[in-house]
Amino acid sequence: MEQLLQQIEAYKQEIAAIVPNGADSLEAYRIKFLGTKGIVKNLFGEMRNVPNDKKKEFGQILNEFKQFAEAKYEEWKQSTAISHQSSKNEIDLTLPGNALPLGTRHPISLVRNEIVHIFGRLGFSVAEGPEIEDDWHNFTALNLPENHPARDMQDTFYINQNPDWLLRTHTSSVQARVMEKQKPPIRIICPGRVYRNETISARAHCFFHQTEGLYVDENVSFADLKQTLYFFVQEMFGKDVKIRFRPSYFPFTEPSAEMDINCRICGGVGCNVCKHTGWVEILGSGMVHPKMLENFGIDSNKYTGFAFGMGIERICQLKYRINDLRLYSQNDVRFLKQFTSAV
Ligand code: PHE
Repeated sequence: MEQLLQQIEAYKQEIAAIVPNGADSLEAYRIKFLGTKGIVKNLFGEMRNVPNDKKKEFGQILNEFKQFAEAKYEEWKQSTAISHQSSKNEIDLTLPGNALPLGTRHPISLVRNEIVHIFGRLGFSVAEGPEIEDDWHNFTALNLPENHPARDMQDTFYINQNPDWLLRTHTSSVQARVMEKQKPPIRIICPGRVYRNETISARAHCFFHQTEGLYVDENVSFADLKQTLYFFVQEMFGKDVKIRFRPSYFPFTEPSAEMDINCRICGGVGCNVCKHTGWVEILGSGMVHPKMLENFGIDSNKYTGFAFGMGIERICQLKYRINDLRLYSQNDVRFLKQFTSAV
């Protein structure tokens, strides 16, 4: 008995002194102490040589020793697993990375980018202006003085804190912003969001997107306007597209025209989108009103210009056959991930 206790004490010291190092020596340890022919098993075998009155005491000592040996094993096993894992993370640079799921671009962004790209090839650069505008840039500078009936064409959101502030109703405000800073030649497009106080439905929304275009230089004519826009729709919709201009009215252009293209949905035979006319309006345009040029100190005898404003949602509708404006802002991923574009 005495001898056995001494031996257990010696094993304990041996175990306590071990510094865990690697999976191989861990297995050797397991076999030596905890295996079926190991030390712990053997010590339990000695039980039969212990006198009956000491069996209980010895049994307790043995159990403690067994737990001590097992605890060492678990501790060792865990430290081996951790170092195995961290050495993998730090060293194996050849492991494939975790794939990041890719999102898709919003159809409005796709069409806007394509518009910017097409006009970019004609030398138009992008200009921007604020969505919260003042009366001057959105209306007055554009030849729409206070009480002008044409202001009613656009149901404006005004801002409570200041009666002079509003949410821009069109990107034409950026024309004013550019002309007050820049002198001709001016050749810019301005894509952006605009706001109108409309009841939300499939065909109307309280916000939507436009792209403005402005070209001011010497000898700019209506023929340039027409040819520029014709080039644009051919690039956007294909060479077979047909265009037509209808006389119209905008206070900041004279003469003014709205441009239609033949319906891309039905090919011109008539459908809901073209209201059975075969034609769909995509933009308003015209020659920049001389008064507007003068508002910004640009000599209207020397310079002329054209301007246009198109609805991005409308282009999107014709390109991707989206027939409900509300879809653009509902963030339904099933809708959003369907679209791809050339640029
Ligand atoms: N701003 C006009 C609209 O929102 C469109 C337009 C722009 C017309 C430029 C002529 C010239 O309806």
